[in-house]
Amino acid sequence: MHSPSELLKRIEQSINEIRYPTYPASLYEPISYIMSLGGKRIRPTMLLMVVDLFNGDIAAAIPAALAIETFHNFTLVHDDIMDNAPLRRGQQTVHERWGANTAILSGDVMMVEANKHLTRVDVDILKPALDAFNATAQGVCEGQQLDMEFETRNDVRIPEYIDMIRLKTAVLLGGAMKLGAIVSKASHEHADLIYQFGENLGIAFQLQDDILDVYGDPLKFGKQVGGDIISDKKTYLRLKLQELATDETLTVLTQMSTDRDQSVKVTRVTSLYDQYSIREQAEEMMKEYLDKAFKAIDKIDVDTVRKAELISIAHQLMNREY
Ligand code: IPE
Ligand code: IPE
Ligand code: MG
Ligand code: MG
Ligand code: MG
Repeated sequence: MHSPSELLKRIEQSINEIRYPTYPASLYEPISYIMSLGGKRIRPTMLLMVVDLFNGDIAAAIPAALAIETFHNFTLVHDDIMDNAPLRRGQQTVHERWGANTAILSGDVMMVEANKHLTRVDVDILKPALDAFNATAQGVCEGQQLDMEFETRNDVRIPEYIDMIRLKTAVLLGGAMKLGAIVSKASHEHADLIYQFGENLGIAFQLQDDILDVYGDPLKFGKQVGGDIISDKKTYLRLKLQELATDETLTVLTQMSTDRDQSVKVTRVTSLYDQYSIREQAEEMMKEYLDKAFKAIDKIDVDTVRKAELISIAHQLMNREY
């Protein structure tokens, strides 16, 4: 088996070796830019860890890992347009630097590039790999649409939120791991269980992302802290506050959505979260989904020691700062 840092190195190396066309430069430059800004590379790393788990061939799985990371970066480019985000990985977002139209089109081409990576997997697993990839990609679009619709809705409840983040975030982590199982020619049962591990971990991952959006250290987070509050995202924190707050507080909260001074709004909403211990409750919810993830991986009948790294990475993700 390989260590996660060894696998990460393989991924970074393979990303560096990707050559995009050069004309028109303005279409391809943003792709090299976003792909080279780093990020955790957690999806391709976990994909390759799953390949190790099922005794698969790491080299044969690299195209699938590149497809997933390229797709993920594409979703970030479009997500930053939708969320009106200025910062990504501590740098200017693609649409801030090149304009929204270029960001849309470069993103579209990234989706094509992701497909091109994927078609390099072994031909005998190409169809299941494409099916899993397409199901994932479609789920992400559905989740992103719901995420935007929720901004202007005030009747969203927590189960609906969980389903939204399952789609926008968790199906990709689950899908990445399922692809790892598919390229390793693992059984359907194993592919399903590792998918469930990834999906539940993905829900916990997005809960942590929502917490960091409020409580992250701006120097480490790499994104605009308070962005979710500014755009009235219906995060777990926001919905839990709405559940617990008095009518009076709710009225103040609704009025705040028209607050002109965004930093005042962020400060005021954050202090309401503090007042109602919302962060602690969000962390509890995260733990519940982490537990569900562990229950799924527990059912996979391979030697326990082989699962240790995946479990350890899952814990680390819950304590990350970016
Ligand atoms: C950001 O994903 C989008 C979410 C699903 C929260 P990551 O937190 O994995 O971003 P990078 O790739 O490490 O920058
Ligand atoms: C992540 O949602 C989902 C996708 C990017 C598909 P966010 O909007 O919370 O992600 P960040 O916080 O901008 O990375
Ligand atoms: Mg978003
Ligand atoms: Mg966003
Ligand atoms: Mg976020």
